[in-house]
Amino acid sequence: AVTRTPLIAGNWKMNLDHLQAVAFVQKLHWTLKDAKHDAESVEVAVFPPFTDVRTVQTLLDADKIPFALGAQDLSSHDSGAYTGEVSGSFLAKLDCRYVIIGHSERRAYHAESDEVVASKVQAALRHGLVPVICVGETAEDLEVHGTSAVPVAQLTAALAGVAAGAEIVVAYEPVWAIGSGQAATPEQAQDVCAKLRDVVTQAIGGDAADRTRILYGGSVKSGNIAGFMRQPDVDGALVGGASLVVDEFAAIIRYQK
Ligand code: G3P
Repeated sequence: AVTRTPLIAGNWKMNLDHLQAVAFVQKLHWTLKDAKHDAESVEVAVFPPFTDVRTVQTLLDADKIPFALGAQDLSSHDSGAYTGEVSGSFLAKLDCRYVIIGHSERRAYHAESDEVVASKVQAALRHGLVPVICVGETAEDLEVHGTSAVPVAQLTAALAGVAAGAEIVVAYEPVWAIGSGQAATPEQAQDVCAKLRDVVTQAIGGDAADRTRILYGGSVKSGNIAGFMRQPDVDGALVGGASLVVDEFAAIIRYQK
């Protein structure tokens, strides 16, 4: 079996302006350094709002801070008359490695359908970005279909047309667990993430599926991260609220300790 480098990703959502972002990233970096955290053992990624991306890029570069950079969304188009949209090509030029696609908040508040999500996945890959594809069931879906049916269908749709061997990241975020303080159990997360890995295998092949990091997201905290990371098919976390608090996010990154 391949060993996948765990990925701990902080989705800041609409929090931290570019000045706050600088202070936050510096403090996180120094906190991890003081703790002698081995930067090779876990990949850390931050996902600031668009207006911070350039500032954070400059800081990571100038201070040689080993965090990966990502954006929270992108346009399915490459350029042109799309007021308010941001192209994947712009993000790639700012050294973004990742882009979150299909977060439940975008699906819910911006009516992003599975088709839109799939076209954004294509756009990310076209520009050399790694899509972090978010899937997850609502509380209502859970009642009607159980845990895995909706995320499996969402991921199947998102991967339609993706070439074999593509580099992707998947994030399983049950909507009922996001910001609720009510995380899934490690066993629930494992069960769904294993099924999502089967979807990845079907879509882009077994080797790529072995390399694909599948993250859990939804009320991840320093107190519950280790249980998720012990699961064979959970390769990291997509963290919202707790990624905005330096000590808490640092403790999540240092989950083995
Ligand atoms: O994308 C991460 C997010 O939706 C989870 O949020 O605040 O429950 O960690 P939170």
